[in-house]
Amino acid sequence: MMDFTELHGILNRSSIRNWREILPQTIDELNHGDLDHWLKVFEMLPDRNTRHLDLTAASIKIGSAGELTIPREELTAGLKLLHPWRKGPFDFFGIHIDTEWRSDMKWDRLKNHISPLKGRKVLDVGCGNGYHCLRMAGEGAQLVIGVEPFVLFVLQFMVFKEYLRNFPVFIIPRGIEDLPKNQPFFDTVFSMGVLYHRKSPFDHLQELRSLLLEGGELVLETLVINGDENTVLVPPDRYGKMRNVWFLPSPQTMLQWLERAGFKNPQLVDVTKTTLAEQRKTEWMTFESLDDFLNPDNEALTVENLPAPRRAVFICKK
Ligand SMILES: C[S@@+](CC[C@H](N)C(=O)[O-])C[C@H]1O[C@@H](n2cnc3c(N)ncnc32)[C@H](O)[C@@H]1O
Repeated sequence: MMDFTELHGILNRSSIRNWREILPQTIDELNHGDLDHWLKVFEMLPDRNTRHLDLTAASIKIGSAGELTIPREELTAGLKLLHPWRKGPFDFFGIHIDTEWRSDMKWDRLKNHISPLKGRKVLDVGCGNGYHCLRMAGEGAQLVIGVEPFVLFVLQFMVFKEYLRNFPVFIIPRGIEDLPKNQPFFDTVFSMGVLYHRKSPFDHLQELRSLLLEGGELVLETLVINGDENTVLVPPDRYGKMRNVWFLPSPQTMLQWLERAGFKNPQLVDVTKTTLAEQRKTEWMTFESLDDFLNPDNEALTVENLPAPRRAVFICKK
């Protein structure tokens, strides 16, 4: 059940056993005002023993409609206690959780460029509800640890984790700043959608590097703008209505930053403009979304008249 005992045991047998110190014993320790409300969904979850699992599907599949033991509407309402659902999609006992983001589209853009994950120890920093962690586990990673400070997203993951006893995939409910420093342990580290939220991009790159084994791979995804190796946008205030966006480099600048931070052979493998097909309001995420963040008269710009979101994927080695 929703505790960290299994991860505790895995860490205990590893060279990063001091990570146990940042683990809560149980989810109750997270002490969030809405926790009791959110936890109600766990009382209505179907039988934990389903064999209908597919972590390789674009819409991750857990359980089948035929196994539902309560009315579908009741479970749907229970899952919606965990609104907003941002990352997905999921097919949970036949209920299509149509999340704000089609996270499968990001996965498709990078999956053929990364070193195969089979047998690797993987860290996913800023993993949200763990959609990509589950895809990584689906690729046969030996261990996947996600790090995510937002308790609601960790609980969304915990719903799925109830059914995934045989998959070594976990989320630590903390921020990257809480992790012990300088512990090279992982074969692959992902940082996707996090760098632009960090006030100090070089500190972030160095933290990521310090967690990688020699020869390990960093997969970094972040917002970029057009420009040369001297171009960086620091939004004067908000960006796409977000308050916490600090640095949007050009791809060339980002490649230089990666080199300067000590990474080898940085490669740009994808640049894609974010479309309304990938990020949009749905019944599972009813707050504002991309449509509300773009200038209604010019979709090449945000409402602040800054370049509209384009996201790039970079791959490099330690
Ligand atoms: C834009 S989302 C990206 C989610 C996912 N990695 C993806 O690419 O779809 C950024 C995530 O980073 C998390 N985050 C914010 N601050 C963080 C921190 N200090 N350490 C780790 N994650 C953080 C947010 O809560 C959010 O879930």
